[in-house]
Amino acid sequence: MVTNEDVIEAENTAINCNTVNKLELAVKNFNNCSLKSTSKNVVFADGNNKADLMVIGEAPGAEEDKIGLPFVGLAGKLLDRMLAAINYDRTNTYITNVIFWRPPGNRKPTDDEITLCYPFVKQHIILINPKVLVLSGVVAAQTILKSKLGITRLRGVWHKLQISDQINKIDTIPIFHPAFLLRQPERKRETWSDLKSIREKLTI
Ligand code: URA
Repeated sequence: MVTNEDVIEAENTAINCNTVNKLELAVKNFNNCSLKSTSKNVVFADGNNKADLMVIGEAPGAEEDKIGLPFVGLAGKLLDRMLAAINYDRTNTYITNVIFWRPPGNRKPTDDEITLCYPFVKQHIILINPKVLVLSGVVAAQTILKSKLGITRLRGVWHKLQISDQINKIDTIPIFHPAFLLRQPERKRETWSDLKSIREKLTI
């Protein structure tokens, strides 16, 4: 059970991090998330922290847990191909998740786990302050947009995300998660349309 004190501690810790390096260290030293004890590694982020494109996924899987980097398994390979299709890769994209530790057996993160990680994720977005934020999959989309809608309704719709008064609104779009696309390749057509829209937004 996550208590209010746990969440307040996470918020106070995260808010005090004024660089990405400090935030990474704070997440590594944060012991209140029980997933830490069942995982091998913290999975904080990969890519360029000066990028204008930030991608947020759900949670690390087995490969990510082993290596300590996000999106390095099969779904990650597809994400790399999706980015390549719009001339992006990990040198000009910043990639992270709403959960920093692997949920056992790749189960869906619980609301408590999401709530506890959220202050760090929010600070992460503030510090990266990307031009475009892509939310990969339903968990990232619902968490960041504070929505209960399903991904089929959410995907492809642009939002002006006001994550904090400290930074301007961010152009934000949910897309299907690459793991979902591996299971349902017929949905790639919609994703291609979303990717073109992302490419266009990045060039404005
Ligand atoms: N799926 C995610 O959402 N994130 C990862 O890092 C890997 C797979």
